[in-house]
Amino acid sequence: MRLPRTVESADVAGKRVLVRADLNVPLEDGRVADDTRIRASLPTLRLLLDRGAAEVRVCSHLGRPKGPDPAYRMEPVRRRLLELLPDERLRVLENTRFDAGEAKNDPETARRLADGCELYVDDAFGSAHRAHASTEAVAHLLPAYAGLLLLAELEHLGRLLGEVERPFVLISGGAKVEDKLGVLSNLGGRADTVLIGGKMAEELRDGSPLDFEVELPVDVVGAAEFAADAERRLCAYDELPDGWLGLDIGPETRTRFSERIEEARTIFWNGPLGVFEWLPFAGGTKAVAEAVAANQDAFSVVGGADSVRALNELGLADRVSWVSTGGGASLELLEGKELPGVAAIPST
Ligand code: 3PG
Ligand code: MG
Repeated sequence: MRLPRTVESADVAGKRVLVRADLNVPLEDGRVADDTRIRASLPTLRLLLDRGAAEVRVCSHLGRPKGPDPAYRMEPVRRRLLELLPDERLRVLENTRFDAGEAKNDPETARRLADGCELYVDDAFGSAHRAHASTEAVAHLLPAYAGLLLLAELEHLGRLLGEVERPFVLISGGAKVEDKLGVLSNLGGRADTVLIGGKMAEELRDGSPLDFEVELPVDVVGAAEFAADAERRLCAYDELPDGWLGLDIGPETRTRFSERIEEARTIFWNGPLGVFEWLPFAGGTKAVAEAVAANQDAFSVVGGADSVRALNELGLADRVSWVSTGGGASLELLEGKELPGVAAIPST
C-alpha cells in the first residue's frame, strides 16, 4: 500500500494550517454522544500546536445536511474539542456540508477553505473514501500531508489486506445500506463468513443481490413502528408481519453469530446489528460486541462511529485489536481501493 507523506515531516512553525478531521460524531439531543473521533484527532492537532503552528483551522462535515441546517452546526463538537485541547490558536470551521460545493469536490469551495492557509493536513480517515472539496480538491491547492490518525488507520487496516489468519469473519450492519451493499459485494469474497444484521438484513429479506453466501438473521425483534417504546414481538426473520420493522437481531441469531465469531481468527465488524441507542433493541449489538471482545485469539477490527460508540458504552473498546474511526472508509479500503482522500496526498 502506498503511504502518503506524514505531517511529521512538514515544517509547520509559524504557519497557518488547515486540518481536515473527521469530527462526524453521533449526536443526541444536540450533544456529542460519543467523542471517540474527536479524541482520535487530538494527536495531530497537538503535534501542530507543539511545533509552533501560528493557527490550526479544523474543518469537518457533521451528519448529512442538505445545505445549512441548525441541527448540524459544529458548535457542540467545537465545544468538546476545545475542552479537550484548549488553545487559542485552534479554530473550528462550520460544517463543510453547509456548502453545496463540498460534495461536488468543487475547486471554488476548496479555494475558500484553503484561503489564508499555507499547509493542508488530512487526518480524516473516516472521510477518505469521499472525493469532496475538503478531502480531495483542497489537497491540490496547498502542500498536503497526512495526519497521524490517517496513517495509523492505514497501517492497522493494512493488515487486513494481505494474507489474513482464517477463518475471517466479516460482520456488517448499520443504516447506510445504499453505501455499503456495493462495497460488500466487492469484498465479501475475501471473508470466509459474512454475518449480516441491522438495516442491511432488512433490505435483503426479499433476496440478496450478493453473489456469495451470507448468514442472515433467523429471528428478529419486530416493532410495530420506529419508536423506542413501540409494541414488540419476536419474529422469524422471514415472517415479519406486514408493516412491522425488524429493529434488532433475535436471540437465536445472536447465539449463531456469536459461535461464528468465537471461531474466527480475523474479525472485521462495521455497523450495529439493531437500533442499539434504544434499550429494547440493543441486545443484538451487545451480544456481538461481547463475542468480538471475548475472542482474544483473533485480530479484531471494529469500525464506524456507531459500532465504536456501542463498544465504548459497553466498556469493551480496549478488548479489540483496533478501533477504527472509519466505517465506510475502512470497508472501501478493505476492497483494496486507494481512497481519494489518500491518493490526493503525495507520498514521501
Ligand atoms: C462516516 O461516518 O462514515 C464518515 O464520517 C463519512 O460520513 P458520510 O458517509 O456521511 O460521508
Ligand atoms: Mg457514520
